Amino acid sequence: MANANNSQSLANKKRVIAGLDIGTTKVACVIATQGTDYIEVIGVGRAATTGMKHGVVVNIEATTEAIKKAKEEAELMSGVSVEKVWLSIGGNHVESFDSMGMVAIKNSEVNREDIERVIEAAKAVAIPNDRQVLHVLPNDYKIDNQPGISDPIGMAGVRLETNVHIVTGAKSAIQNAIKCTENTGLKVQGLVLEQLASCKAVLSDDEKELGVAVVDIGGGTCDIISYSQGSVFHTGVVPVGGNNFTHDVAMGLRTTQIDAENLKKKFGCALVELVTEEETIDVEGVGGRQKRTIARKNLCEILEARAEETLQLIKKELVDSDVISKLGSGLVLTGGASQLVGLVEMGDFVFDLPVRKGAPQKVGGLTDVIKCSSYATAVGLLIYGSEQMKKSDKRKQNDYEDNFGDKISGWFRRAKEALSE
Ligand SMILES: Nc1ncnc2c1ncn2[C@@H]1O[C@H](COP(=O)(O)OP(=O)(O)O)[C@@H](O)[C@H]1O
Ligand SMILES: [Mg+2]
Repeated sequence: MANANNSQSLANKKRVIAGLDIGTTKVACVIATQGTDYIEVIGVGRAATTGMKHGVVVNIEATTEAIKKAKEEAELMSGVSVEKVWLSIGGNHVESFDSMGMVAIKNSEVNREDIERVIEAAKAVAIPNDRQVLHVLPNDYKIDNQPGISDPIGMAGVRLETNVHIVTGAKSAIQNAIKCTENTGLKVQGLVLEQLASCKAVLSDDEKELGVAVVDIGGGTCDIISYSQGSVFHTGVVPVGGNNFTHDVAMGLRTTQIDAENLKKKFGCALVELVTEEETIDVEGVGGRQKRTIARKNLCEILEARAEETLQLIKKELVDSDVISKLGSGLVLTGGASQLVGLVEMGDFVFDLPVRKGAPQKVGGLTDVIKCSSYATAVGLLIYGSEQMKKSDKRKQNDYEDNFGDKISGWFRRAKEALSE
């Protein structure tokens, strides 16, 4: 109880922020406090779910239950109750495209208003009624044909252009995710593309500059996001994930899904050559059949085939979208299924690029719990949310200063008029 009181007083001093990741296999809720330059995780809750398929809600009741459980667990651990969350949106329905915007610079020097106008101009594209915009991600700016400008404020010129990356999702899928969240009494503070959140937790700025693709391999999908020169230029989804690995093992070894899942996690390896001939494992029989002992190699042969096919599908997505040549610093694999032993080594070979595993970084607090790659999205939601809140604070501050400036100049004007009278 004392612990809960401590946490409560801690939360009162700093701002509380919460992320809710509704994945195909689990719901994760993380609660943190946000200081000026750090985020400290104070509560984590997790609940398995059967209400999702390939990243979208297929059963409202089951998903709501899982959210409720994860939220309560995180609240209990932190001693803080949350009212609003940053919610992840993922799945096959997500699409993205580039759009250009161009405006005249009003006072021959770029100000915040010009930037807002150019982004508005780039956003002015027809979006079908059944789709909803999730993000408008500005790339760099161009002033009078000079490209590559990341922060144009204060620069002189006549014409300002930008290229934005617009991410949209199916309205129905998004509304169902919101509905399940609101059913538990939570409010949605903002929607965040799952892979955009994940990359916030696992990528360094240098990798984003050099060019990198993050692949979040979850239970039902591989969610991809690619960066070049510090900006997002591609997102994609491959509709296979860790569940396909488990299913293959269950079929191949004629065992239950639960046993297949355990065997995969405990003895699985994506490269058969890393396993010796002598190693054996016990496999449960189905329908009351006897337990059997088989070579571990048999399990790994099944996983190797699926791993290679999955990585080839990811490679195809990257080649078809003309992304692969821009990945100077290679790929980062994250998400629960990226933990399969040997997957990174196979990735080096399939992509012919450097591949590494990505676990959440950049936050403090319960790091030993959340350093697992299946928390990449949940932790990324905190980082994304914190960035948005800081931006909004800055906007309010600027507006206040602008208003204050207007008031002062109005006062001077009136004083001058009074004196001249
Ligand atoms: N150690 C492991 N080795 C291989 N696969 C794993 C391991 N741990 C978790 N997984 C797999 O990761 C998947 C879940 O990943 P996660 O990112 O948590 O999913 P989601 O966000 O889609 O719910 C499951 O298919 C699970 O079997
Ligand atoms: Mg996930």
